[in-house]
Amino acid sequence: MLLDAIAELNQLNTLSDEQLAVLIETKSYQEDLRQAADKVRREHYGSDVYIRGLIEFSNVCAQNCYYCGIRAENANLYRYTLSKEEVLQCCAEGYALGFRTFVLQSGENPAMSDKIICDLVFAIKSAHPDCAVTLSIGEKSRETYQSYKNAGADRYLLRHETANDTHYRQLHPSELSLKSRQDCLFSLKEIGFQVGSGFMVGSPGQTTQHLIEDLRFLQELQPDMIGIGPFLSHRDTPFAQYANGDLALTLRMLSILRLMFPHALLPATTALGTIAEDGRERALQAGANVVMPNLSPKKYRDKYALYDNKIATGEEAAESRAALEKRVVAAGYRIVTAVGHVKK
Ligand code: 5AD
Repeated sequence: MLLDAIAELNQLNTLSDEQLAVLIETKSYQEDLRQAADKVRREHYGSDVYIRGLIEFSNVCAQNCYYCGIRAENANLYRYTLSKEEVLQCCAEGYALGFRTFVLQSGENPAMSDKIICDLVFAIKSAHPDCAVTLSIGEKSRETYQSYKNAGADRYLLRHETANDTHYRQLHPSELSLKSRQDCLFSLKEIGFQVGSGFMVGSPGQTTQHLIEDLRFLQELQPDMIGIGPFLSHRDTPFAQYANGDLALTLRMLSILRLMFPHALLPATTALGTIAEDGRERALQAGANVVMPNLSPKKYRDKYALYDNKIATGEEAAESRAALEKRVVAAGYRIVTAVGHVKK
């Protein structure tokens, strides 16, 4: 019955929690889910894979999320912030390699005033008017988000991390709340950003019910992009001792997301490429349609360590675009040079 529902493809949004739980938990459905998801992705995006140049421009962060390696209290980390010129240089190099979206990501760095960010966004858009600029710099006021939009930013990524309030509090200190995170996401949408959200799979304390709540929240938010990856432990965090998330479960969740959100941009994330050598290719085959190679200057790449063993110099990197291209083709897809907006 469930597999019939999968075959009907667009029926996944009408599944009950109990039915979703079966899909999430049943390992033997993996391949059926994957094939159904791939069929839907090909209907909407063909074999196209969009690339985004990721610029991790500062690892300074005021927050203390228990899972994250760049949390404020991690004293074992060299902190860096790129200058405007360095960021523009990354963009220029990325442009020459065929990138038409730049994703600026950082910790919640209080030194990055609205003016600094707006100047940066404006400078990138002026240098590359045919490119999209995505920001991923955390929770801000609605006014601040509006100023980023006015400066020319097109998209904003802010994972909700978990849509269950109790679980949210298990992952974050009391200064942070699910409500404020969700409010940010709805503000971003109202302001007119293309919005990305998402969650970790296998974060400490996560249950199947939590994953279903993640899906339900996403049905409400209707984001343009959904980023998921396995939780991976980092030695200098309170969660150092917890086990990593599961690759197969993450792939099943990706396929379920593709079936529930046929038009969504779903990245094959760095965390997936870290947990398995072929993790990102398998993600593409399970429904993902975006990869975000690292465009940051090489000397900083290992400093943006959200988790241990983050891939940082190999073929995940932007400069090995040819190698990446080969891997994508071998997986059955092709990289396109396009701004890569969501199709709806
Ligand atoms: N393991 C996996 N993903 C992580 N992130 C942060 N820390 C970890 C970790 N230890 C993810 C969060 C965040 C995104 C930028 O990286 O979901 O939103």
